Amino acid sequence: MKNSIYFFSILLLFCQCGSIKNSSFEQTNEGLKEFYKKYFNIGVAVSVSSVKNKNANLILHEFNSVTAENAMKMGPIHPAENMYNWKDADTIMAFVKNNNLKIRGHNLCWHQQTPKWMFIDSLGKKVSKQILLARLKQHIFEVVGRYKGQVYAWDVVNEAISDAPNEYLRNSEWYQIAGKEYIAKAFEYTHEADPDALLFYNDYNEISATKRAKIIKLITQLKKEGVPINGIGLQGHWAINEPSYAQLDSTLSDFSKLGLMIQITELDISVYPKEHAARERQNIDTATTFSLEKETKQAAVYKYCFELFRKYKKYINSVTFWNISDEHSWLDNFPVKNRKDYPLLFDTNNNRKAAYWEVAKWEK
Ligand code: GLA
Repeated sequence: MKNSIYFFSILLLFCQCGSIKNSSFEQTNEGLKEFYKKYFNIGVAVSVSSVKNKNANLILHEFNSVTAENAMKMGPIHPAENMYNWKDADTIMAFVKNNNLKIRGHNLCWHQQTPKWMFIDSLGKKVSKQILLARLKQHIFEVVGRYKGQVYAWDVVNEAISDAPNEYLRNSEWYQIAGKEYIAKAFEYTHEADPDALLFYNDYNEISATKRAKIIKLITQLKKEGVPINGIGLQGHWAINEPSYAQLDSTLSDFSKLGLMIQITELDISVYPKEHAARERQNIDTATTFSLEKETKQAAVYKYCFELFRKYKKYINSVTFWNISDEHSWLDNFPVKNRKDYPLLFDTNNNRKAAYWEVAKWEK
């Protein structure tokens, strides 16, 4: 009897140790979304293959929101006037529904990845403003209508501001044919198609004081005209040398005064100094390994970016990374073709990097 009591006590102790070990393992194995649950949603841009392959587990473990990297853009989803390609977007939607995730819609009106047919008639001549706006409306009604009540926020207009210092709006085909009105119209159509969706204007290089002033001017005008807009999307394609802490602080401070919500929509931090224009790879581009120096600098930038996101948590309700891990990033081919970059929080094997821990752990 004494022996069996002894045996059971040992067994109990063993089990308790096991469960303690398990629960502390679970704690350290929490995903980013848990670290940030009192702050904002943590999102990631996904492709149709990533929601089916090994990345699916990582997505579900770390993130609670997704954006389709390409599948909902006008070119892929609406390649010809009477043809919609729903397959990829529907697959991503099913993943979202099955796993109870949030999804941001990206995007409805942009100067890139727009199908050629949108701007021309059957003879190849430019369409009128009236026809272009009717096509835009039809596109928005179809896409937003299909995912109504499921996509909680849309990037309605993407990158309408010009990068040229002396030009306000980008001289895109949208602008050339429809003038500045296409922007307000896109928001109105989207609101009509899904009155509950949150509507965003999304742009990059928002950390530049010049570009930022133009974005703020646009949003202020839209608000004055009573256009339905709920938020500003800051893409956040940044690098190890920019933004500085002060630059990002003033960026977030300026946007927070607009009285709209802010979302960081396409975050990555390149390990190369920022270059804005595409160029060929040259001899100077040989140092492409992820050195300790790059790792340290990148982790430091990620650290203060999230410090500032937390500071502005009253305004920021979502931070989305553009791509999952360093295995694949659009920056592997931009601005320098075929130069490997390492801009994300997970390495090429999906392991957490130094930058991950700078983001996940902080002194509260
Ligand atoms: C922009 C777009 C995104 C994506 C990136 C590059 O930021 O908004 O959809 O195309 O460029 O990958």
